[in-house]
Amino acid sequence: SKLITLDEGFVNTGSTRSAITFLDGENGILRYRGYPIEQLAANCDFIETSYLLIYGELPTAAQAAEFRAGIRDHTMIHEDMKSFYSGFPRDAHPMSILSSVVGALAMFYQDSLDPNDPKQVEISLYRLLAKLPTIASYSYKKSVGQPFMYPNNDLGYCENFLHMMFATPARDYIVDPDFTDALRLLLIVHADHEQNCSTSTVRMVGSSNTNLFAAISAGISALWGPLHGGANEACVNMLDEIVRDGGNVKKYVERAKDKDDDYRLMGFGHRVYKSFDPRATIIKASCDKLLKKLNLDDPLFEVAQELADVALRDDYFIEKKLYPNVDFYSGVIYRALGIPIQMFTVLFAIGRLPGWISHWIEMHNNPATRINRPRQIYTGATERTFVPIDQRG
Ligand code: CMC
Repeated sequence: SKLITLDEGFVNTGSTRSAITFLDGENGILRYRGYPIEQLAANCDFIETSYLLIYGELPTAAQAAEFRAGIRDHTMIHEDMKSFYSGFPRDAHPMSILSSVVGALAMFYQDSLDPNDPKQVEISLYRLLAKLPTIASYSYKKSVGQPFMYPNNDLGYCENFLHMMFATPARDYIVDPDFTDALRLLLIVHADHEQNCSTSTVRMVGSSNTNLFAAISAGISALWGPLHGGANEACVNMLDEIVRDGGNVKKYVERAKDKDDDYRLMGFGHRVYKSFDPRATIIKASCDKLLKKLNLDDPLFEVAQELADVALRDDYFIEKKLYPNVDFYSGVIYRALGIPIQMFTVLFAIGRLPGWISHWIEMHNNPATRINRPRQIYTGATERTFVPIDQRG
């Protein structure tokens, strides 16, 4: 039989060639389609970034207008889909709602399921980009018992999401441009990160030639896990715990350094980025600006600031190259925006969607793609003879 190479966790196995995202962890470099993340964050909105990831080039003004209009046409979900939400338990996790409802798009939009028809793929990607914020905000409205707010197509992508989250029929939500901008940055820095767990899932599921909705629903399920999309939630929980414990930051830093204690500071360190996380640098500035402006009376923000200061000056953290990562600041920003903790990973999913779509399309267009079918090294019993039930003991 053929020799099988074992690489558990795919630490050193390339699954594909890809022209979408370049990542250099040693030097803190992240580029989408060749453009440094810093330049995109400074100049683009999320829809332009999505176009770049999906089609490989920044759009011309005409292309951008067409893309935006295509998405805008699809922001509402089918009225019948709203009845799903009445059946979901009120305390359902919004990630579970998101993956279920996205999976159900394949039932409601059967005219765009063929992965080999570019026109159908285009409509389904418009539908996904347009509907994900609607589906997500409805999951929040369900959890707080408020009526769903229809999308308002006069608003931009980020404003519209905040409107659907926080407006009610009784009260408009006045969107603060700094909130919109913080959300824009967060979505852009999360938009792709090459072959991470959820993106690899989308590619793998897609390699069986299933439709885009089904593959994206699988990606959302992969992202839900605490080892992937859930770290910003863990970070805010940790900050809350420190606050409840009297705000003694040093105690937690000492715990994280203790060799006999496996406690870690959530939101610090990264598998790939060993000098700094370029995404964290970008959103730290936005985080600082937002906190200064809002001047919120929440001790969590002071604790976050102090923790970052103490850890960044500490020899242990310096020596092991442990810096605050993207999840440290994203958790703090979401808290400042008033986004409930259960929704943090949902926001990550909205941001990662164009990355998932672009990888699914790249995978389909690659003539080298075959159904993903890893092998294994069998470690079970050798052949044995069946034992009738009355003789087993
Ligand atoms: N607090 C204290 N010590 C730490 C931390 C931390 N957050 N992270 C790593 N270390 C220590 C670790 O104990 C080890 O020490 P030693 O060499 O003495 O055994 C050393 O640093 C290297 O750690 P590692 O676990 O071998 O590093 P890794 O590359 O396998 O893990 C990580 C990376 C992100 C999982 C880890 O740093 C961690 O658990 N961080 C906290 C969780 C977190 O913030 N995760 C979000 C990552 S960013 C989101 C994304 O891009 O996916």
